[in-house]
Amino acid sequence: EKGGYDYFMLKEIAEQPKAVADTLLGRIDAAGSLTLDELRISDAELREVDKVVIVACGTAFHAGLIAKYAIEHWTRIPCEVELASEFRYRDPILAARTLVVAISQSGETMDTLMALRHAREQGSKVLAICNTNGSTIPRESDAVLYTHAGPEIAVASTKAFLTQLVACYLVALYLGQVRGTKWGDEIHAVIRELAQIAGQVEQVLETMEPVRELARSLADRNTVLFLGRHVGYPVALEGALKLKELAYMHAEGFAAGELKHGPIALIEKGVPVVVVVPSPRGRSVLHDKIVSNIQEIRARGARTIVIAEVGDEAVVPYADHLIRVPATPTLLQPLVATVPLQVFACELATARGNEVDQPRNLAKSVTVE
Ligand code: F6R
Repeated sequence: EKGGYDYFMLKEIAEQPKAVADTLLGRIDAAGSLTLDELRISDAELREVDKVVIVACGTAFHAGLIAKYAIEHWTRIPCEVELASEFRYRDPILAARTLVVAISQSGETMDTLMALRHAREQGSKVLAICNTNGSTIPRESDAVLYTHAGPEIAVASTKAFLTQLVACYLVALYLGQVRGTKWGDEIHAVIRELAQIAGQVEQVLETMEPVRELARSLADRNTVLFLGRHVGYPVALEGALKLKELAYMHAEGFAAGELKHGPIALIEKGVPVVVVVPSPRGRSVLHDKIVSNIQEIRARGARTIVIAEVGDEAVVPYADHLIRVPATPTLLQPLVATVPLQVFACELATARGNEVDQPRNLAKSVTVE
């Protein structure tokens, strides 16, 4: 049932191009517009939404962090992202025009369920993004957008994460489409790019051997740090989470701009630092900033592992290891940039002799608060 793979996690990483394509299937029409009829929240209601609040845990929370960038950019609706376990305890401001989005692979995570119940009690509409048909979270929500990743068996989330991202982009783009924001042309262009993304994820998967080799060479380390900016920041958090849960290593993700406010003190000779570099096209300011961050940490002895777009030559002089990903619009980059981090964590865990599919102390769905 592992389809020839040693672990479910490897199988699920390999299934990502199909999972991503399946989540898009039937949701983009021939004219390149989105059709989300299944949503059960009317376009009229969506036009009234004046705030989006995303609640989720763990990896799903990281998908939510990325969604915020997309939603605010494409729709200009303010968006908050909150850990589901914190949400209802801080008396959040919710109203009928607040759209709450609950993201959950299993659909059974108690923290997320309690957060959405609280939101509905306050009169907000809840949209679930979920991978498990008929599970509790979609049943208790006003609407659901299923991710079609197929069953995810490994405890560490991989294909569910990528499909959660796709679903979040669909929600963001759909909100943009029904509200007719000034980004109309960009929205159409992004929908076209999204339709190509499965092939790009496949391309990344085909070039992972050097990443596996690198991971094996780091098996005796204690710490790996991850840096990113913009949507690369949640990608860094996700890379660190995967490494913690699978390799049991101290791994931490930072916003690269925060380095000088503290974390740079952690940099010492030889410490591996993975840096997620945004596309040099478009927002070049963002790119320039991160290139100087790489220079800063390398000058202090870090061993730099750089994830950068094909053709980005500016990073080459400062990268001890360079991992290439296909060119994508910045907001979509997490779909390709996360894949090497999954492979990295999986291989490192294996090299350390850990049980990849069943990490210690963890359960696939967390049904207690
Ligand atoms: C990490 C992981 C967890 C889950 C989290 C939420 O790899 O799998 O962090 O993402 O427990 O689970 P769901 O999405 O089922 O609500």
